[in-house]
Amino acid sequence: MQRLIVHPSGPLAGIARVPGDKSISHRALLLSALATGDTTIHGWVDADVCRATLRCVRSLGVTVEETPGFTEIMGAWQGILTVHGVGLHGLREPADVLDCAGSGTTIRLLAGILAGQPFTSIVTGSEALRRRPMGRVAEPLRLMGATVLGRQDGRLPPLAIRGGQLRGIDYAMPVASAQVKSAILLAGLFAAGETIVHEPGPARDHTERMLAHFGVVVESQRTGSAATIRLCGGQELTSGGRLDVPGDFSSAAFPLVAAVLVPSSAVRLIGVGVNPTRTGLYDLLESMGAAVGMEEQPPTDATHPASAAGEPMATVSGRSSALTGIEVGGEVVVRAIDEFPIFAVAATQAAGTTVIRDAAELRVKESDRIAAVCTELRKMGADVEERPDGMRIHGPARLHGALVDSHHDHRLAMSLAVAGLVADGPTEVLDAGVIRDSFPGFVETMRGLGADVAWAGDGE
Ligand code: S3P
Repeated sequence: MQRLIVHPSGPLAGIARVPGDKSISHRALLLSALATGDTTIHGWVDADVCRATLRCVRSLGVTVEETPGFTEIMGAWQGILTVHGVGLHGLREPADVLDCAGSGTTIRLLAGILAGQPFTSIVTGSEALRRRPMGRVAEPLRLMGATVLGRQDGRLPPLAIRGGQLRGIDYAMPVASAQVKSAILLAGLFAAGETIVHEPGPARDHTERMLAHFGVVVESQRTGSAATIRLCGGQELTSGGRLDVPGDFSSAAFPLVAAVLVPSSAVRLIGVGVNPTRTGLYDLLESMGAAVGMEEQPPTDATHPASAAGEPMATVSGRSSALTGIEVGGEVVVRAIDEFPIFAVAATQAAGTTVIRDAAELRVKESDRIAAVCTELRKMGADVEERPDGMRIHGPARLHGALVDSHHDHRLAMSLAVAGLVADGPTEVLDAGVIRDSFPGFVETMRGLGADVAWAGDGE
């Protein structure tokens, strides 16, 4: 099992490019597969979870070519895929169970597509994925006319999905989940009539933006933080042409917070996707007093020559700053949902108390991120209290190096590595190979900026 050894280090300085956005990479592959014609996806992230989507798409009869080898551009891995789309009704029954590995996005978005197919498929994944709630997608897909069976009354994977002739629904989601919204919209492509989804908060809207890139008419109406999204079934997806995946804001979060916390640091991250449904962490850091900056970048400049599927991009920068604790709740929680492990690390260094509430969803992510973050940061000397829907963090704490565990969660592993940069003494992060779930090249990127981070154990 790979470990990460981190020594207090810095200052961090320089420019880096983070790998392509994981959420957008999954969607680019799935929608290209359903399109009529070819799509070339540039900057696809060669992360373990996106590999799972690639394997599933191939098992459904779609030909995808990978440009041999990957070029390393400023410390980030850039992949190029050419997807030969089979059209809305061209998928083939898979010969075997579809393995979604540890990917919640793969299993839930794929469930939406499979619900519209005239065959039966079985989707499953890693032990951790098989503990994650699927009732939230199974229920609306059943209402649309699909048969979805699974363990514990259809609530846990493996799921067996018998697609059928679907009908559009008008569905109010109980949680602001982009995966659920996307599953319903993708099923809606195969349904008769209109599909309407009401979301209670600003869940990421990459599916809507990318559907539009593929020529599908999707209407979104926002009222405050809630929204209603409508789509008519039967719309064919045209070829995506060249599609550029912007850098992942959720990966940029680690060098960004590291720059804010490590004294005398200044870091610039280029080509980062800054869709406002994703940048909650940026707003939270600003409210804490962090010196962060965002310079919007036209999507047609030299670094990204073509379309980024309607996604805004920017150079995001951070400098070392004195932070003050804040209260976090409401709509920003949804826009920062994947960033709470690294935000908690920032909060340990802020003066005063930081309270996170309305974030119970963190308990059903790759790990129970409330319990896991509290347990591991406490081992490093942080003053953290667990709450049912969040946590309370008192700072600033003098962290000390410790032997900590990722709980097989990529974001926890990287957050603990950043905490190790500002701790006294060395930190060892166990089960850190899981970082490749979203950020291949994390160690190289952080080292390039001046962090003393190195692999140890298998695969050194
Ligand atoms: C994702 C949506 C979010 C997020 C996950 C990726 C997506 O999950 O936490 O990492 O790509 O749609 P939920 O939809 O469960 O909130």
